[in-house]
Amino acid sequence: MADTTSGTAVLDSDELDRNIFDDGVFDGFEPHRRGDPYPRYRALQDATPLYKLPEGVYLATRYHDCVSVLTEAKWGRADVNGVNPFAPEYKIENLPFLWHDPPDHTRLRRLVSKAFTPRAVAGWRPLVERTVTRLLDDALAAGEVDLVEAFAYPLPLIVISELLGVPEADRAQVGRWSSILGRGVDPGLLLPPDDIAARAQAMRDGVAYFRELIARRRVEPTDDIVSELVAVEEQGDVLSELELLNTCVMLLNAGFETTVSVLANGTLALMRNPAQLRLWRANPDIATAAVEELLRYEPPLQITTRVAHEEMELAGRTFAAGESLVLLIASANRDPDVFADPDRLDITRYGRQAAAPSVLSFGKGIHFCLGAALARLELEIGFDQLIRRSPGLAQVGDELSWLDNISLRRMRALPVRLR
Ligand code: HEM
Repeated sequence: MADTTSGTAVLDSDELDRNIFDDGVFDGFEPHRRGDPYPRYRALQDATPLYKLPEGVYLATRYHDCVSVLTEAKWGRADVNGVNPFAPEYKIENLPFLWHDPPDHTRLRRLVSKAFTPRAVAGWRPLVERTVTRLLDDALAAGEVDLVEAFAYPLPLIVISELLGVPEADRAQVGRWSSILGRGVDPGLLLPPDDIAARAQAMRDGVAYFRELIARRRVEPTDDIVSELVAVEEQGDVLSELELLNTCVMLLNAGFETTVSVLANGTLALMRNPAQLRLWRANPDIATAAVEELLRYEPPLQITTRVAHEEMELAGRTFAAGESLVLLIASANRDPDVFADPDRLDITRYGRQAAAPSVLSFGKGIHFCLGAALARLELEIGFDQLIRRSPGLAQVGDELSWLDNISLRRMRALPVRLR
């Protein structure tokens, strides 16, 4: 049955599935589609701006709709009862400010932003360069490696751990719970109970870990971000213990798996488009534009979510206050009405005079990624050195296995030859 709430027909799943998926229902989030979900997303996008998932929640598929939701304050994160419908097992105050609405979000983001100034990010460059160089020295000496294990995973883990002051001995353990927490951005209603229990446990592990680290920094501050957040203060306002804990867990988690994903998926995309790889190698100055294009082409977070704070119109449908919505960032980034030849990897796209519209991979609006400058730094230096130092870069074998996560999309391993 078509939803005619506002007079414009928005086809529901059954009708669409009959129309566009001869072989069944939309399965773009299923593990067997993780390798290449894009044709599934495109089929939805061509057919409809809003698709109702069997679980009852709508999926927005087009760029301008996603932008209008992300930049509209009446689309927020918590419902009218102060609950995030995608993670109802948590009270909002036990979640980091990524999940908060103004005025709380405004206050927390302002305080935490003090540790992410352009000056601070510029000061992190030597750490990133050093780490990239060391990891690639080892990988090149080995010649053939799993690029995820040797480079894409450790680079952001080391960088964010160094910045937060997580000692080397703790990193393997911290990396493990942070990876499980990658499930934190998946809509709970699409997850099996075991995964919901695992992400809740990972959150508890993260909080317990940072409780100790924060206690140590209160007594003996260093020059790391945790010490800075402990001391941060604006007009008498400070972060409470709970706010500090939630922020540290979020920074570790947000600053890690997403970057792993671009390094791994981006390298695969370049190896599959050898002319683009050659172009980058011959023009190292293109790195900033090329990274932007990789972010568009392979967004680590494929979806994000919002909740209507009051009755809202979108793409011809009326959403009641409290109704939730999933934004398919990965299809918005490839909307043919916005991006020319959207399925083509074109590392010059963002270098041309009439620059392409902004990618949604870091979000947009008040929740725009706080760590975008750090992520870009790691990606530019990481890809630059990888491409320059490994002229023989090539995939070994063609079997790839992908994480089962819905939002975060990355492969488990990427065997490559570097020399
Ligand atoms: C390629 C890497 C990254 C990607 C693709 C990414 C993506 C995103 C996206 C899409 C959002 C907004 C979500 C929404 O509005 O629903 C976000 C928010 C955020 N990100 Fe990132 N991120 C990356 C790296 C980082 C890093 C390195 C850090 C910090 C160390 C970080 C910290 C944050 C924080 C704190 C927020 C919450 C901002 C707010 O709610 O105001 N991210 N990120």
